[in-house]
Amino acid sequence: TRPLKVALLGCGVVGSEVARIMTTHADDLEARIGAPVELAGIAVRRPGRVREGVPAELITTDATELVKRDDIDVVVEVIGGIEPARTLINTAFEHGASVVSANKALLAEHGTALHAAAVEHGVDLYYEAAVAGAIPLIRPLRESLAGDKVDRVLGIVNGTTNFILDRMDSSGAGYSEALDEATALGYAEADPTADVEGFDAAAKAAILAGIAFHTRVTISDVHREGITEVTAADIASARGMGCTVKLLAICERTPDGSAVTARVHPAMIPLTHPLASVREAYNAVFVEAAAAGRLMFYGPGAGGAPTASAVLGDLVAVCRNKVAGTTGPGESAYTRLPVSPMGEV
Ligand code: HSE
Repeated sequence: TRPLKVALLGCGVVGSEVARIMTTHADDLEARIGAPVELAGIAVRRPGRVREGVPAELITTDATELVKRDDIDVVVEVIGGIEPARTLINTAFEHGASVVSANKALLAEHGTALHAAAVEHGVDLYYEAAVAGAIPLIRPLRESLAGDKVDRVLGIVNGTTNFILDRMDSSGAGYSEALDEATALGYAEADPTADVEGFDAAAKAAILAGIAFHTRVTISDVHREGITEVTAADIASARGMGCTVKLLAICERTPDGSAVTARVHPAMIPLTHPLASVREAYNAVFVEAAAAGRLMFYGPGAGGAPTASAVLGDLVAVCRNKVAGTTGPGESAYTRLPVSPMGEV
């Protein structure tokens, strides 16, 4: 069988793990897909900074030329940010490539248009890695729960802020010391403002709400409050009340079911609640559905290897679709529920 060719855009914390696993697990991936997969090029901005173990001969600084290659079957986008990622993904679609992306900011802002472009060109757009790192959430919501009615999605979806709040609570660490540690461990975004101001969690909330409620939610619909105002004194007083402080993302239907709300803000959690025991950069998300009841998804929500796991799962899925000459579930029929600016807190 003809090998499937993959272009990798970005080779930072996540991209270098993707390249490493694709190289070291090539035989396993081939067995699961039914065709060999080959890394055909890696686009980076600064070639001098490429990590050890990444095949140097595949590096290019011309991402546009790479995505225009007609022999590329799948483009894996792990650069983040809106541009140039958006233009590169659209160019990839135009040249017949399916796309695997970890880009929550882009999906939360332009997801609808990107889905439409993928459908128009008969290719896939998968993005399990955009929400909560290694934890499967997109596919369970889109596929496993497709026959149920989801009422609420609630949880911790940002590893960096959870790490900071956990350190402040458990070891009395200062805010900036804890942030530096989260950055060194590869959890934080390139600009950690996105984490601590709640933009990262809000993007994930928008993506989850859109899929869970079959509607369109963008990041600007999400009420957002980060953790920069949370002080050591707040955490100590929460402790005094048998609680801890967590940054929560909450997406739910309004009580009459006529609209959805999505919000991100710090909340006091009783120490007896399962969310209180989510430590370090772990994430945990509860999904409440009419027939299923309450499901809990828990695991590593950030970091190179866990996020790469989700990217590779998507890579296998879109490659299988390519081999079968099909595409995965596209946009479902939207009920177009209105998004109210803010629910009751
Ligand atoms: N900066 C993000 C986090 C990475 O801390 O959760 C995963 O999206």
